[in-house]
Amino acid sequence: GETLPDQLHDAVGNASYVVVFTGAGVSAESGIATFRDAEKAALWSRFDPMQLATAEGFLADPAMVWGWYTARRRQVMQALPNPAHEAIASLAERVPRVEVITQNIDDLHERAGSDRVTHLHGEILKSRCFDCGAPQDLSALSQEPDEQGRLEPPRCAACGGATRPGVVWFGEMLPEEAMNHAYNAAIQCDLMISVGTSGVVYPAAELPQPAHDNGAQVIHVNPERPPLVCERDWCLLGPAGSWLPRLLV
Ligand code: NAD
Ligand code: APR
Ligand code: ZN
Repeated sequence: GETLPDQLHDAVGNASYVVVFTGAGVSAESGIATFRDAEKAALWSRFDPMQLATAEGFLADPAMVWGWYTARRRQVMQALPNPAHEAIASLAERVPRVEVITQNIDDLHERAGSDRVTHLHGEILKSRCFDCGAPQDLSALSQEPDEQGRLEPPRCAACGGATRPGVVWFGEMLPEEAMNHAYNAAIQCDLMISVGTSGVVYPAAELPQPAHDNGAQVIHVNPERPPLVCERDWCLLGPAGSWLPRLLV
């Protein structure tokens, strides 16, 4: 692809505090479909994550939602970090402080070796009781969804409530502590690299704004031009797996 402008590679090397803000696109090359792709695919399958990944959808049909998340959890467990995750993890050797703020619910940043990762939308490998919130341990469970993709959620030992995925659904509040941490990182960093997000889902999509406002340089990495780009942002159009190993290492 195109060559990387030296001034971007230098901007990374000269930074003292880098925030890497990631969306589903950073895991695309690990074989995990992005949400917008899943939405398009949903036109042909029964399950539309935009419709059913909600508390109302879960209460209306717990087996369908729990079955879909079980399939997605298996996909995450079988996926491997890709060169984008690895380049982000290796950045800590070059820059004094690196924070990963992700909208993703997979654990690929952690498995690539990033040790400061904040999940704004929860984590699919964590589950809790829908009613009392008690964490639920799934390691003993091995049931698979049936041919309709349905699977009854396990019941909470403490109160009998249904187990839900530990992710933020549409219309739900984001974890307050994670949001505050992300906002503080955005206003303190001197460089934000926004990777693989469509920038259309709020409040996460706001984060480049405080970075702009505090004078940080923002670099976007995405095959499509993301919406929140101001004239002094840089945009690397193309896959994260090919740009980040050149930009970050
Ligand atoms: P939305 O427009 O309904 O708003 C997101 C939620 O964040 C709302 O409840 C809003 O009150 C709250 N919020 C707004 N500003 C906030 C702030 N500063 N701090 C904390 N919370 C704030 O968003 P949406 O499109 O309905 O989706 C809700 C969230 O669920 C999104 O972040 C979305 O990415 C996430 N989601 C996750 C999955 C998944 O499978 N992981 C699926 C769908 C949606
Ligand atoms: N490298 C970089 N970016 C990519 C790649 C790639 N290989 N492949 C796709 N992309 C980009 C797409 O161009 C798109 O802009 O990744 C983005 C994926 O956008 P979404 O599917 O909307 O994912 P995301 O931005 O993370 O969605 C935000 O919405 O559905 C909710 O909670 C869910 O966290 C998700 C949130
Ligand atoms: Zn319970």
